[in-house]
Amino acid sequence: MFESTIASPLQKIKDNRLEARGITLLIKRDDLMHGPCQGNKFRKLKYHLIECRRQLSDHMVTFGGAFSNHLFATAAAGYHFKIKTTGIIRGEIDEANPTIMKLKAWKMHLECIHRHDYQKKDSEQFLTMIKQRYPDAYLIPEGGHHTLAQQGVGEIVDEVKDQYHQNIDHWFCPVGTGSTILGIAKKISRGSVAGFVVLKGFNLEDTKSKMCTEHDLPENKIQLIDAHFGGYGRKNEMVERFIHEFYADHDIILDPIYTGKMFLSLFNLLTTSAHYEGSTIVAIHTGGLQGNSGYNYRYGSALPEWTPGAC
Ligand SMILES: Cc1ncc(COP(=O)(O)O)c(C=O)c1O
Repeated sequence: MFESTIASPLQKIKDNRLEARGITLLIKRDDLMHGPCQGNKFRKLKYHLIECRRQLSDHMVTFGGAFSNHLFATAAAGYHFKIKTTGIIRGEIDEANPTIMKLKAWKMHLECIHRHDYQKKDSEQFLTMIKQRYPDAYLIPEGGHHTLAQQGVGEIVDEVKDQYHQNIDHWFCPVGTGSTILGIAKKISRGSVAGFVVLKGFNLEDTKSKMCTEHDLPENKIQLIDAHFGGYGRKNEMVERFIHEFYADHDIILDPIYTGKMFLSLFNLLTTSAHYEGSTIVAIHTGGLQGNSGYNYRYGSALPEWTPGAC
């Protein structure tokens, strides 16, 4: 799974509406990387795995919801590299949840904690308790969020430089924890990166300012755009419709939690705002396709599904 050193493809999208505006849209197809550990999950875990090995740990402990892409990728990577994995799960487990079934198949030890306690997962007290319980484990924060994750994501920029020899004006990605957008922002030498925020309830201007201050980035390097469509992980008919259309038009599967919301918002933006006319854009397909089976299971929908391949 990780042996491949081949860069993910950079695919030019054919769309009459974009062509009419002189826009070149390139999709960085990270969804095609590394089987079950696809997308930004591979990028975000790469240096955690190296660090885990460097610390001579044979056990990774991490956190997530029952449908989590991060738990899915960590379990797959652990299984592949023969590193034990423990997933601390928010809430309860439903044994028929397709994500949980995969975590179990890849031998991840699952520990469910009450949602109320899970909210304290970043506190000193909670982390001390986890470290006492798993003393030799390498701890990975929820979603892999860390400067190590940013380092891995930054490699996307190097790959694109090798694949496309003209200037890129704008970069786009979905935003959850913020590691992906930061990884890109820290690496690009021109242009800016805009992130579509899929979580509800953030003051986007304040969040952006805080990110730029903490990471010593100029304020014009990052833009945050609301793309929650009713909230994280919620069913949304408009997003579903767009995913079906996009699949029919481009043969690319999107997920309903991150990339479906991003590409729907991106197309709305590019086809209405004069700001992007004549520009060259890279949008990152961050994967997350394992989530389609969970979404279909949860909401009785029929989104295109994806087969992760062997570990
Ligand atoms: C498929 C997918 N895309 C985008 C993101 C958002 O990335 P980040 O949490 O680094 O902002 C995530 C979550 O990590 C994800 O699973």
